[in-house]
Amino acid sequence: MCGIIGYSGDQDSIPIIIEGLRTLEYRGYDSAGISVCTEEGIKTVKTQGRLTVLEDKLKENPELGGGCAIGHTRWATHGEPSDTNSHPHSAKNLTLVHNGIIENYAEIAEMLKGAGYTFESETDTERGAKLIDLLYEKYQDPIVAISKATKIIRGSYALGVIFNDIPDTIFAIRKDSPLIVAKGEDGCFIASDIPAILKHTKQYYRLAEGIIAKVSKSEVEFFDMEKNLTEQQLETVDWDVEQAQKGGFPHFMIKEIHEEPEALRKTLEPRIRDGLPYFDIPRLDGDFLSKFGSIHIVACGTAMHAGLIGKAIIERIARIPVNVEIASEFRYRNPILKKNDLVLLISQSGETADTLAALRLAKAQGVYTLAIVNVIGSSVAREAEDVMYTRAGPEIAVASTKAYSVQCSLLYLLAVKLAVLNKTMSEDEARDFCARMLTDIPKTVTSALEMSTKICEAASRLVAAEHLFYIGRDMDCQLCTEASLKLKEISYIHSEAYAAGELKHGTISLVTDGTPVIALTTVGKVCEKTISGIREVKSRGAYVVSICSEELAAKYDIPCDEQIIIPHIDEILSVFPAICILQLLAYHVSAQKGLDVDKPRNLAKSVTVE
Ligand code: F6R
Repeated sequence: MCGIIGYSGDQDSIPIIIEGLRTLEYRGYDSAGISVCTEEGIKTVKTQGRLTVLEDKLKENPELGGGCAIGHTRWATHGEPSDTNSHPHSAKNLTLVHNGIIENYAEIAEMLKGAGYTFESETDTERGAKLIDLLYEKYQDPIVAISKATKIIRGSYALGVIFNDIPDTIFAIRKDSPLIVAKGEDGCFIASDIPAILKHTKQYYRLAEGIIAKVSKSEVEFFDMEKNLTEQQLETVDWDVEQAQKGGFPHFMIKEIHEEPEALRKTLEPRIRDGLPYFDIPRLDGDFLSKFGSIHIVACGTAMHAGLIGKAIIERIARIPVNVEIASEFRYRNPILKKNDLVLLISQSGETADTLAALRLAKAQGVYTLAIVNVIGSSVAREAEDVMYTRAGPEIAVASTKAYSVQCSLLYLLAVKLAVLNKTMSEDEARDFCARMLTDIPKTVTSALEMSTKICEAASRLVAAEHLFYIGRDMDCQLCTEASLKLKEISYIHSEAYAAGELKHGTISLVTDGTPVIALTTVGKVCEKTISGIREVKSRGAYVVSICSEELAAKYDIPCDEQIIIPHIDEILSVFPAICILQLLAYHVSAQKGLDVDKPRNLAKSVTVE
């Protein structure tokens, strides 16, 4: 994880770096630091804590200034968050920032000790810095030193390096960690992600692996590992600063939940043509997908939960078996993949290390890979054989919300496509289904957003809970897994998602007087069964919040202490307004507890380490 920004230009670099780091804090925020090229050499200020702590420390050094600097916001991997372990890290000739993990750091340290190096921090990064330093002493050439160092380093890295004797120039390289390079009107940049440079330019280069960028005040150049000049493709961002900011909302998370109707529209509209699913990917729009006998959906966290919804809908309407796998397990369990299996990767960032590794494993076994990704040009998007982009726009809050909804919406469309190919749905039925998705999903999600006040009240009765349960059956049970993750990651309330029929096999012993149980009922065929489960917890003193479809609330008298009615939509599409309500509930609990909603403890947005 970790966020990197570097600037070389004629402006004062400190405010530029701080502003850039603020946009990257979602990548990690346990410490921050900055190194500036000054007339007296490279000066570093770094500290444990949030960016604001760094800003205070910088105020104690008002003389610090310069036109070239690198900055870092950290998510600790090697060594606890501390001033010493914070980046940048220096060696005799250079200072650098790093995102990723140097796996063979211990080996490198041994080699460096033999050459007389000592270490101040516990970090893998300091070992990396000193390795480049050793090679720079030997070859007196930054590109050669970096290139030779990266041949020794194993693991993942995005590096931004400044050398004492090469003023105003940043060298950068990456492997398995994102890094972009950009040229603005007032200088040039490196950064982990686009929002960090958006104020200065909309054009950027996504640095390819094995290429070294040389970033000076007025130009950026790219070299291959043999030091030959090479070209990188210039790309243009299609969203702006406004979209990457809070736009009047108190937190990014609530802003992003409010963006769901638009994100769903933008994802679905271009994907429906002549009333049927259309992916704008030639082979997917033909009958290519009909040859797959089973599907493995591989992803992490929220994206994996979207996969569970995908499994439910694909199996229900297309009758094709689907396995949903956690990428970190899939990659190491030697999965059995057959030639007519489809491996479907889902990732908002497209940079999740485990998902990327799972993709590579599937490809290595000759299995077709399709990815659902939000970030254009990200590693998963580039490496999968085909990619369907969700059009959620930038998601900044660590807790994923709109990305989940749009991932589910694409999985629905894929299910319809597969159902038509598998002849479990006629074209007419598919047209009708797509038309309802297009009109009803954004409309009911908008109605769910209008229920914020009621949801906020329900949240106020959950803030004091130490643990709670989400229960449901069938698709509701899958939705509960995501609702539960959302609540626990941002409110620090322990919660579990349970199949309503499974509680009585052990877990119900945890239900005592006042234990909150959030019961989701949108699936008609199992509603009575869920009601039995609700009665069981109710009779053990649970405080039951029923979240129920309009239709089922009218039909059944659900035993509960309070009820939130989901805006009316066909049962099969109720996932979309239901998740919006559940996301809002989690948000309001966290906000009412006064927690840092957008940056929950111990987490980071983009998990580029294993
Ligand atoms: C939770 C959350 C994470 C991510 C997971 C995968 O709110 O955001 O669980 O879903 O880290 O990330 P991506 O989708 O970027 O691969």
